[in-house]
Amino acid sequence: MRYKPEELTRLPRSVEYERGKVVMIDQRLLPGEFKTVELTTVDGVAEAIVTMRVRGAPAIGATAAFGLALYADTSKAKTKEEFINGFYVAYEGLKNTRPTAINLFWALNRIKDLVEEHFEDPLEEVKRLIVAEAKRIADEDVEANLRMGHYGAEVLPEGNVLTHCNAGSLATVQLGTVGAVLRVMHRDGTLKLLWVDETRPVLQGARLSAWEYHYDGIPLKLITDNMAGFVMQQGKVDAVIVGADRIVANGDFANKIGTYSLAVLAREHGIPFFTVAPLSTVDMSLKSGKEIPIEERRPGEILTCGGCKIAPDVDVYNPAFDVTPHKYLTGIITDQGVVWPPFERNLRKLFRRE
Ligand code: MRU
Repeated sequence: MRYKPEELTRLPRSVEYERGKVVMIDQRLLPGEFKTVELTTVDGVAEAIVTMRVRGAPAIGATAAFGLALYADTSKAKTKEEFINGFYVAYEGLKNTRPTAINLFWALNRIKDLVEEHFEDPLEEVKRLIVAEAKRIADEDVEANLRMGHYGAEVLPEGNVLTHCNAGSLATVQLGTVGAVLRVMHRDGTLKLLWVDETRPVLQGARLSAWEYHYDGIPLKLITDNMAGFVMQQGKVDAVIVGADRIVANGDFANKIGTYSLAVLAREHGIPFFTVAPLSTVDMSLKSGKEIPIEERRPGEILTCGGCKIAPDVDVYNPAFDVTPHKYLTGIITDQGVVWPPFERNLRKLFRRE
């Protein structure tokens, strides 16, 4: 790898584990306030995921893993049986937070499988294994992002890039998926300008992406979501890159609502369209994007903006994600290299090789 994480960002990790507490940047307060919160209960960690103090598929996965580490370090269970029962309660509580990003289930299951493999070990050893595995998940996320950053920068054209939502450092443990690609391009001098979609209804583009890329000195312009088509028509976009919450076996993928519209627009204007995600975001058990569960969030996110009421109390439909059919994708940038069409065959090959 040509760059180390500290050469690509000034941002600290978005979530960390210290014995007995999960420490995270409170993303609900950005861009107004940069503040970390310390969570000392598993319920508090689950609540932080539901209310999006922490969000972004890989960050949610790492946070949930830290939630289980927190359980291991704070459990008062006197017997192994009692500990294991409590472990499953913590696991279920964390699992029932957000349904679309597969990284949540991937991280939780990785720790559950480890616990089940070590059922016979002494209790203290099981606790130690849980904490170590959670930390490993977080460390591996940063390493995976670094690799994606370098792979992505090889294939993105030089020029202006448009992104949607936040798949940056804040959405992962550090660097980001899309964020890593943009940061490597910026270091290489191949990223001329970043177009950032504001990303209604929760404004992850305006509040988080604009904040973190500006913080790292990346030249950017913020636009509202409905401006993307016009900017493309004016010839001001050379590539679109977005993150993913779940990529399925045929290459269809779920990402923040609005991604699908961008993909169609990019195709119309002949602009390459990439998604960037680690293999932990790929769900080979689902054949097509139609099977991905799509989270619906509360109406208040649409009826208000920045705490102000912007619509009467009418009925609202608020899907948090949409599904982009693989036919719109130029390539999938993963931590194991770039996957090109035909996606079904090439994803299968990648998983066989693992
Ligand atoms: O609802 P969010 O903010 O969790 O949605 C985030 C996204 O859709 C990201 O693009 C995705 O999780 C990839 S993050 C590297």
